[in-house]
Amino acid sequence: MATPKIMLTGDRPTGRLHIGHYVGSLRRRVELQNQGDFDKMFVFIADAQALTDNTDNPEKVRQNVIEVALDYLACGLDPEKVTIFIQSQIPELCELAFYFQNLVTVSRLQRNPTVKTEIGMRGFEGSIPVGFFTYPVSQAADIAAFRANVVPVGEDQRPMIEQATEIVRRFNHIYGDTLIEPNIMLPDNQACMRLPGIDGKAKMSKSLGNCIYLSETAEEMGKKVKVMYTDPTHLSVNDPGHVEGNTVFTYLDAFCRDEHFGLYLPDYANLDEMKAHYMRGGLGDVKCKKFLEKVLNETLEPIRARRLEFQKDIPAIYDMLRRGCEDARAVAADTLADVRRAMKINYFDDEALIAEQVKRFAQD
Ligand code: TRP
Repeated sequence: MATPKIMLTGDRPTGRLHIGHYVGSLRRRVELQNQGDFDKMFVFIADAQALTDNTDNPEKVRQNVIEVALDYLACGLDPEKVTIFIQSQIPELCELAFYFQNLVTVSRLQRNPTVKTEIGMRGFEGSIPVGFFTYPVSQAADIAAFRANVVPVGEDQRPMIEQATEIVRRFNHIYGDTLIEPNIMLPDNQACMRLPGIDGKAKMSKSLGNCIYLSETAEEMGKKVKVMYTDPTHLSVNDPGHVEGNTVFTYLDAFCRDEHFGLYLPDYANLDEMKAHYMRGGLGDVKCKKFLEKVLNETLEPIRARRLEFQKDIPAIYDMLRRGCEDARAVAADTLADVRRAMKINYFDDEALIAEQVKRFAQD
């Protein structure tokens, strides 16, 4: 039998989702869902992982679980096709993470570049909570418990997937072939890999206040586009401009398609022509920003509208999540039964074990 194609990915509920999440992963998930070539798809809200660095702020995590769920549905994830669930409701994940901890060394975790950066960002140097330090192990369990072989995530998650692959390999090596090695699926264009904030800073992040949220109004978004970082050397319209490192063009790389020109900016046939004009000089930032705003709105307007609809029936969202958790739990429980068998800790469902022990003690 061919290996089933199983996709899994998730997000920490520490804020509403923004357009960086959208081009980095959400858009792809919806496409994959609609193409329908996966046997099973899981998208989950990583509340337990969010608590590893928001330990004293459970209310924030709780509030954002529903925000993220609404963002998922608004983007077009369909609970009929994708199992949407909440991490903390699947205790099997803790169990698997506990066994996985034996398969990783402290020094290997210390070398994980994502963890390293995050320790710096959170001021954890010298006093790192163990749960935070080991979250890559828990993330490996999230993936392995669902036997996911395709994990669509942003570039920043690459070290996590590598670590998960190593752990799965080591498990299979020691206990016999049981778990499936995951593969990362990255965004297909460079701009989508790491969408900068509106200030041009490396990454869109809530703490930097440089995000465009999926759920904000067209008006709020318009204001942000107006103040967006462009090219500081492009002082007057006729100066030659740079498109590299220019946030407006990076966003266009991520969002714009040829047909947008016909609709909103017929002066050019495509983005390459527009960029060429900007670099030559003669194309002003205001015009570029107006175009970007229209392009963004085209994508975001239906998302905003759907979100407003879903917000009208919040109990239905919790119900959908509860059903997703039930489904997910059954799958994880099935994997854990295999894991326990492989690790020889399945004492009560192993007839051969008892017979073997009977024989052993009969000889004494
Ligand atoms: N670390 C991911 C993030 O910060 C969330 C996450 C947790 C995840 N477990 C995962 C992503 C498993 C993919 C697979 O967004």
